[in-house]
Amino acid sequence: MKKITLTIDGVAVKADEGTSVLQAALENDIYIPHLCFHPELPGQGVCRLCMVETGNDGMVTACRTPVEPGMAVKTKSPQIDRAIRPIAELLIANHHATCRGCPSNGKCELQKLMAHLRIDRKRVRRLWPPHEELPPDTSPLCFDYDPNKCILCGICVETCQQLHGRSSLRFMNRGSDTVIAFFGNEEQCTSCMECTGRCPVGVLMPKKAESQQG
Ligand code: FES
Repeated sequence: MKKITLTIDGVAVKADEGTSVLQAALENDIYIPHLCFHPELPGQGVCRLCMVETGNDGMVTACRTPVEPGMAVKTKSPQIDRAIRPIAELLIANHHATCRGCPSNGKCELQKLMAHLRIDRKRVRRLWPPHEELPPDTSPLCFDYDPNKCILCGICVETCQQLHGRSSLRFMNRGSDTVIAFFGNEEQCTSCMECTGRCPVGVLMPKKAESQQG
């Protein structure tokens, strides 16, 4: 694969031709906020958190912008902060009030984002009162789904589509009622568990072996 050189925040980095700006940054240990990106999937452009500036094009999503030779990428600016901070704050306000007890604690992409943007969860929950909590969906055979933690990134839906040619999982309802569900497609699920493994915030949690048997 041909390598090209670009700069990210003034640092010269090398990247494979055809790769996205987000991938190039992450492969060079430069963090750009992101939630709907997974390295095995094409950039989705759903969460709008990976905004960067690339000179001529103004602000673009890094996950859907291919690298170009000599490109100068800026990952931080007042404009970028104004664009992404309200999105991140809303997601955090509506996420669970505490990470204590969550199996994703310590490896959660939302925690990483919160630390990067220095967001105080208590403050945002005062500013953006969270929605009423919903009961977890324990009806699927192989995993439990917690709608109160879901960031609706779509990685699980796209993963199922990519691996099986047709996704068993769907977005259901609208607006603040949107959740991920089988929507009558549960029999198509092969229990491959890739969706749970790729979930960036631990919303889809594999059932414990004993509860699957029981
Ligand atoms: Fe680019 Fe979500 S990671 S829009």
